[in-house]
Formats: sequence, C-alpha cells, structure tokens
Amino acid sequence: MFPGRLAQLPPSSFAQLAELLDPVKPGGPVVSLSVGDPRGTVPAFVTEKLAAYAHQFGEYPPTNGTAEWRLAAAGWLCRRFDLPAKALDAEVQVLPLNGTREGLFLAPFIVTPEVKAGGRPVILLPNPFYQCYAAAILACGAEPVFVPARAETGFLPDFASLPKAVLERTAAAYICSPSNPEGAVADADYWRTLFSLADAHDFTVFADECYADIYLNEPPIGALTVRFEETGSFDRLLSFHSLSKRSGLPGLRSGIVTGDARLMSTFRSFRNYAGPQVPMPVMAASAAAWADEAHVTANREQYRERFRAARRILGGRTGFRVPEGGFFLWLEVGDGEAAALKLWREAGIRVLPGAYMGRETEPGKKQSNPGFPYIRVALVSDLSTISATLERMGEILVPSSKPGGA
Ligand SMILES: Cc1ncc(COP(=O)(O)O)c(C=O)c1O
Repeated sequence: MFPGRLAQLPPSSFAQLAELLDPVKPGGPVVSLSVGDPRGTVPAFVTEKLAAYAHQFGEYPPTNGTAEWRLAAAGWLCRRFDLPAKALDAEVQVLPLNGTREGLFLAPFIVTPEVKAGGRPVILLPNPFYQCYAAAILACGAEPVFVPARAETGFLPDFASLPKAVLERTAAAYICSPSNPEGAVADADYWRTLFSLADAHDFTVFADECYADIYLNEPPIGALTVRFEETGSFDRLLSFHSLSKRSGLPGLRSGIVTGDARLMSTFRSFRNYAGPQVPMPVMAASAAAWADEAHVTANREQYRERFRAARRILGGRTGFRVPEGGFFLWLEVGDGEAAALKLWREAGIRVLPGAYMGRETEPGKKQSNPGFPYIRVALVSDLSTISATLERMGEILVPSSKPGGA
C-alpha cells in the first residue's frame, strides 16, 4: 500500500474493520462502538471564544502558541500533576499541537540518531498500540520493537524484559497511560522502572497521557509527577496531552507536548518546519478549556455512569473487567475477529477486533497477536444506547457465568 520503509504498515484498523464487516449485512440498526470518538457537547465557553477570536483567522499564529495559552497549559499541568508552580517554564516547556497525534508523530524525528550502539536505532512501543506510533517510527527510519501488553504484565509492556542489546539501540519508548485500548494505568513503580531504563540506556520516554483525565477512581499518577519527584527535572521525558478526551473536543484538534527543556527546544525548532501552527481562535478556546475543570468533571461522570452500566450488564461474564482509565471496554471473548463479525451479523453492533490494534509476535500465527482474544468497545454513545447495546452483546457473546459480579 505504501512505498519503501512504510510498506510494513498494514491498512489502518478501521480499513481492516470495513473489509471484515462491509460485505456482511448488519443484523439490526447499526450501532457503532468501534471508534473512540468522544462525541462531547461543546461547552458554550468554547464556542464563544472561537467566535470572539475568529478575526484572528486572518493571521498566521506563532508556533509557540500565545502567552495566554502557554500559561493556561502550564497551569493545568502543574495542578493536575502536583508540580510546584515553577517546575515548568511556560516559555520553553510547553508547545501547542494540532491534537496529540501530531506531536506523537513528530517526536521520533527529534531523538533518533542515524546509528545507535553500532546498529539501527530502535523505538519501543506497546502491543497493541495507537497506530500512529508505528507509522512515526517507520517514517523516521527506526526499527519498531513491539512489546506485548498482556494480562500477565498488567496490560502494560514489560520493557525491562527486553534483551540488553535491544535496549542499547533504543532511542525512545512510547508508553500510553491510561492506555488505549486496555485502559491500564502505569503506577509510580512502573514509571520509575521505565525512567531507570531510559537513564541507563540513554533513550527518551514518549508518555502518551491523553486519557489522563478520564478515570474511574483516583487520578492516574503522571510521568511528569514521578520524574520530577525523583530528579527535580523532566530529563528524557516528553509527555503528551489532549483536549480531545479531557474536554470531549476531538474536533478542536488541540493538544500539548511538554517535558525535557532541551528536547522541547529541539521540538519547537523542528515543528517550525514540520508542524502547522495552531490557529489563534483554537488557542483562545483551548486556554479556556485547560483552565476549567467543571466541564471535565461532568464529562468524567458520564463515563463513570457508562462503566457502572457495563458492570451491571456484563459484570461476572468471563473476560469482563472494568479498566482503570480511558473509555474503552477491552473484552476478552476468545477470538475478537469472530466476535466482532457475530455482533455485526446478528445485531448490527460494530466493535473493533483487538488484533487490528496489535501485531503478531510470531509471524503467520494469528493467536500470537496480544489483541487476538479481545474486542475493543468504545463507551462513547449516550447511556441508554450503550446500555441497550451491551445487553444485546451479552446475549450474543459468551454465556453468562454469575451475573452482577466482578
Ligand atoms: C492513545 C491515543 N493517543 C493519541 C490520540 C490522539 O488524540 P488527539 O485527538 O489529541 O490527536 C488518541 C486518539 O484517539 C489515542 O487514543
């Protein structure tokens, strides 16, 4: 499909899903729980800011963002991640992005040398994973090393288990917490281990924390918090945040990259060539969104209600677990592709086979893909649609063992 070094990229998860389902007639009115599109209500203050600053569409914005945006972004980062007010220099350590994806894609280019430890540089990533990581790694010429995130390792990749020779060639590691698709959260020990590997082998941690504000109980500890507590700095860390999930504003295309002052300066220079600036009205609306928590609390409460419904309906079934964060159910169903096809054929329910977000660890063996046994169900519709759909899924999928438990 793609030429050269990108030829290793399979069709996107959703292209694969279309290939699986489109030839088959849906067995009911179509309900899509496959895409993680938060479909939030746009807060009135966002609309107002966009309108008030619309005249600034007539000028090129600064790559660096506006002073107002930088202060709002740094202010939120310090509040959310328990950092002292001066821990982040807003002038150099925060940059606006047109969505986290843009920053996650550009990041490998600023840390990957031509050669590391005498060989081709490696970038580590979890398996399954957000698909942009692999595209970015291949585009910048590094070798992707997919590290399984299975139940046995708490649904997070065990980077420390990699051979020393791989770690020495490692230029960076992507890690997602709360993770998409599993909803796993890295605790302080997990981050500490990862940073000690990064220090020992001189690589950068790309912490994709765009679901940081979507959690069930306690706010997940952040990479910034742990790194700062340990070292008083953010060395070897870039952390990525988004209004897409926190504020339910995926269409605004607005994110933050922050962290290591030296890397941030390189990032800004590179972005000056490669990244489109964020429009001024979007920055004004984003500054207001980072400064406000009321809409985020309401947003989070909606997800909690949906997870409560999921537990009531599917709890006690084999393979059911409530994630710690994010808005996906990662349901173990035996064979995710077969289950997705069955749900479509019998009820018109569209979910994503977990395998479409992962890679086989043994080529040609479908079952070796850590996503193989799972489906990913995005809880992004309204509560009544989700409840009715989950009830139907429960009837179609694995038989119930003990209702109401787990
Ligand atoms: C894990 C993960 N990272 C990054 C993104 C990109 O988010 P944004 O809308 O900020 O580009 C997504 C979006 O679905 C995601 O799931």
